[in-house]
Amino acid sequence: MSERNRIVPRVGMVGGGQLSRMTHQAGIGLGVDFSVLAADPADSAALVCGDVTLGDDRGLDDVLAFAKAHDVVTFDHEHVPEPVLRAVEEAGGLLRPGRDALRFAQDKLRMRTRMAELEAPSPRWRAVTTLDHVTGFAEGAEGEAGTGWPVVLKAARGGYDGKGVWVVDGPEEAREVVDRAAAEEVPLLAEEKVDFSRELAVQVARSPHGQVAVYPVVETVQRGGICHEVIAPAPNLSETKALRAQQLAIEIAQALDVTGVLAVELFETADDVVVNELAMRPHNSGHWSIEGARTSQFEQHLRAVLNLPLGSPRTNAPYTVMANLLGGEDPDVYRRYLHVMAKDPEVKVHFYGKDVRPGRKIGHVTVMGDDHQDLLERARDAAGYLRGDQK
Ligand SMILES: Nc1ncnc2c1ncn2[C@@H]1O[C@H](COP(=O)(O)OP(=O)(O)OP(=O)(O)O)[C@@H](O)[C@H]1O
Ligand SMILES: [Mg+2]
Repeated sequence: MSERNRIVPRVGMVGGGQLSRMTHQAGIGLGVDFSVLAADPADSAALVCGDVTLGDDRGLDDVLAFAKAHDVVTFDHEHVPEPVLRAVEEAGGLLRPGRDALRFAQDKLRMRTRMAELEAPSPRWRAVTTLDHVTGFAEGAEGEAGTGWPVVLKAARGGYDGKGVWVVDGPEEAREVVDRAAAEEVPLLAEEKVDFSRELAVQVARSPHGQVAVYPVVETVQRGGICHEVIAPAPNLSETKALRAQQLAIEIAQALDVTGVLAVELFETADDVVVNELAMRPHNSGHWSIEGARTSQFEQHLRAVLNLPLGSPRTNAPYTVMANLLGGEDPDVYRRYLHVMAKDPEVKVHFYGKDVRPGRKIGHVTVMGDDHQDLLERARDAAGYLRGDQK
C-alpha cells in the first residue's frame, strides 16, 4: 500500500457486515482512513470498501495483524473471543471499545450481573444449569417466590435476532432447552418474562475523553425475535421515561467505560423502563439516524473511536421511521425496487449487497415526516413490497 496523505488515523473495523459497510460510508465524508477485516470477499462491507483485509475476523493471528496495521480497531460484531481481544491489547493494539467493556456485550450473564451492581432496572434473572434451577426460578425455591411460567431462557453467548432466546411454558419445554444447552456447552440464564407494553432502544456515543452524545429514545417493533421497524423518537413516551432511559444509557456507558456507540435495548413497563440487552457498536435500532439525525450513529461511532468531538444527535424531522428489508422467496428485487421509488419518492432505500434469502436482513428503508402513523405505513408498505408480499 502506498503512503497516502493521512489527515486522520487509520481505523480498522473487524467484521464485514452491513454495519461496517455503513460505517465505511460515513467515513468517506469524514475523510477517515477506513478499512475492514472481512472473512469473505462477498461480505457486505468487503464489496464496497477500498481497503479490505481478508482473514478470520474471530481468529488471533488475523485480528492481531490487523490491529498492528491500524491505529484504532473497532468492531461490527461482538464475536471476537475474549482471549483474542486480550492478546491484541497485550500486544499494544488499541481496541475501542476495549476488552473490559466488550465483555458485557458478549455475555448476557456478565451483563446481568453488572446491571445488578449498577442497580439498573432489570428483569429478575438467574444463571441456570439444570432443570431444577429453572423450575425453582419459575415456581419458587428456598423461600423465594417464583416468577411463574412462562420463563425466558437465553444462551449467555452467541445469540442474535432471537436465536438463542426461548420462551418456555413449563418444565417440559424447559428440559429440551436445558438438555440442548448442556450438550452444546452453552451457559444459560433464565429471565422473568417481562410484561412490557413495547420495546425501546437508546443509543449513546462515548469518546475516550468521556464526552457523550445521546440520541432520542426509539420504539423498536419486533416480530419473531427480529426487529422489523423503528420509530424515532418513540411516540407518546413520557418525558420521565425518556429521560430515565437516556440517563441509564449514559450511566452504563460511563460505568462500563464504553468507547464508541452503545445501544441499550429496553422494555417499557407500566411505570418504568427495564434493560434487555447491550450492544457496543452501531445497532439496527439506530439506522434511522442516517437521514433522521444531524450526525448518524455510524459517523458518531467513528468520531467516538477516534476521540474526536462528537456531532449533534439532534433530529432532522419530528419523526423518522425505519423498516428492515427482509429477503422473501423471490430474489428478483430490482423490478420492485423501481416501483417503490416511483410510488413514494420520499422513501430512502438502503441495500447491503447481500444475497436475498428468506428472512435475511438485506437492507432497510427510511422515511421522515410529521405523522408517525403515516410514516410507519409507508415504510412497512415499501419494505413489504420489496420483499415481494404484493405482486
Ligand atoms: N425477559 C424477557 N421478557 C420478555 N420478552 C423478552 C425477554 N427477553 C427477551 N425477550 C424478547 O426476545 C427478543 C430477543 O431477545 P434478546 O434481545 O435478548 O436476544 P438477541 O437474540 O440477543 O437479540 P438481538 O437480535 O437484539 O441481538 C426481545 O427483543 C424480546 O422481544
Ligand atoms: Mg435484542
